[in-house]
Amino acid sequence: MTTILEMRNITKTFPGVKALDNVSMKVEAGEIHALVGENGAGKSTLMKVLSGVYPHGSYDGEIRFEGDECKFAGISDSEKRGIIIIHQELALVPLLSIAENIFLGNERASGGVIDWGETFGRTRELLAKVGLKEAPQTRITDLGLGKQQLVEIAKALSKEVKLLILDEPTSSLNETDSQALLDLLLEFKARGISSILISHKLNEIGRVADAITVLRDGSSVSTLDCRANTIEEGDIIRDMVGRSMTDRFPPRDPKIGEVMFEVRNWTAHHPLHSDRKVVDNVSFNVRKGEVVGIAGLMGAGRTELAMSVFGRSYGVGISGEVLVNGQPVDVSTVGRAIDNGICYVTEDRKTYGLVLDETIRRNIPLANLDGISNGIVVDDHRELAVARDYRDRLRIKSSSVAQEAVNLSGGNQQKVVLAKWLFAEPDVLILDEPTRGIDVGAKYEIYAIIAELAASGRAVVVISSEMPELLGVSDRIYVMNEGRFVGELPAADASQEKIMSMIIRSGHRN
Ligand SMILES: Nc1ncnc2c1ncn2[C@@H]1O[C@H](COP(=O)(O)OP(=O)(O)OP(=O)(O)O)[C@@H](O)[C@H]1O
Ligand SMILES: [Mg+2]
Repeated sequence: MTTILEMRNITKTFPGVKALDNVSMKVEAGEIHALVGENGAGKSTLMKVLSGVYPHGSYDGEIRFEGDECKFAGISDSEKRGIIIIHQELALVPLLSIAENIFLGNERASGGVIDWGETFGRTRELLAKVGLKEAPQTRITDLGLGKQQLVEIAKALSKEVKLLILDEPTSSLNETDSQALLDLLLEFKARGISSILISHKLNEIGRVADAITVLRDGSSVSTLDCRANTIEEGDIIRDMVGRSMTDRFPPRDPKIGEVMFEVRNWTAHHPLHSDRKVVDNVSFNVRKGEVVGIAGLMGAGRTELAMSVFGRSYGVGISGEVLVNGQPVDVSTVGRAIDNGICYVTEDRKTYGLVLDETIRRNIPLANLDGISNGIVVDDHRELAVARDYRDRLRIKSSSVAQEAVNLSGGNQQKVVLAKWLFAEPDVLILDEPTRGIDVGAKYEIYAIIAELAASGRAVVVISSEMPELLGVSDRIYVMNEGRFVGELPAADASQEKIMSMIIRSGHRN
């Protein structure tokens, strides 16, 4: 084996935080190397050091790539060496097309004129490699997060890649698409391309990784060799969190009451193609104290359903009725939905959940300013107390509650979004991919909060692409496909196979 990359004794500090403390890591040529650790452990920071996002001089330690010491001044330097990083927060320009995004800064042009024929042709080839059938002209904003991820990878392939770094590439993908992406990595490996894969999904790591480096609190604690030994998930978890974890889900004793939340005959149309029904005559209910899961494949319409109900945040031509405690309520704006006790925690924290340049303490009360005011003005002491309380309960890793959201690790940003909606104390809470990008230990905490919310008499709806998660947290599961509800079953009777067969039997309309 030849070593392609060696990072030695990397130390990186931010004001008040030592994000990396003497971290070392070695990647062999042609391997898939997983990088794991809890939220805030330093994974993304290490990869930003490697790719020159944090330039040489802003950290201590040494980077050697293909035997040469590298002192990257910026990301273009690392790209020239064939190190390509795909960040945790995707960086595509929403209003531009797929093709424009792929060749941004690297335009196919002759004599100053963009050669669209070549651009589209090349784009089609690259999209085919990642299994996307979209037209090159499609705008990014019209793609779901999962497909955007694939566009990022296609973009990486447009450059000469030797080492591909993927920071949580599958966190927004469903099972099938995740599998496809991992197969893609295996294919790259067969072609001699090395990759570093950051993921919280330990089952995928088990499937593809040749070696695993574990970070804990900014230090490298171990490197596990999957070629020589069988690595159990439990081994990885123990190194990550510093203790063993026996249960993935907290125990529950549901006390389910009357119907508390009901949606009747809900229909919503696509905002750009107003003849297309994205949500088609959906009816469902949630009882007091109940956790209801909504299963479905990516594109089934689950997020669109939740968002259109939550203050018409999505779609046009919306019709149907929403009832809370048997009374029809007005959900025509986000403010009215919140006033009627309905909250929606989004999967896309960057766009809908957080004010990134504000501090943790200012973000948490945003959906319930009354909760921190004395009737007229904001009570600073109360604001601070609330923020600290949620930071402790959700174990949000930060230097203080005065830290800006933009500087938090991805998983910790997600926890702040969750804290914000918990503090709003809704009767009905709709959680859309609540553990996306959350580490195993913190997932447990979030499941415990969901259980607590239900136990305190709330109605909780969970949308998740991770079936084991849905099966683990829900009391009852609805199955959605192509905009319609195609099945319903008690979680006790549900299994991944049953849910999949309901989806398949319901068929495809197009
Ligand atoms: N620009 C910054 N300014 C201040 N602190 C930062 C900055 N970037 C990261 N940090 C801090 O450094 C630590 C490591 O963050 P990093 O994003 O590397 O974690 P991570 O392992 O990628 O976590 P996650 O799994 O949640 O994505 C965290 O405590 C984070 O708050
Ligand atoms: Mg990260």
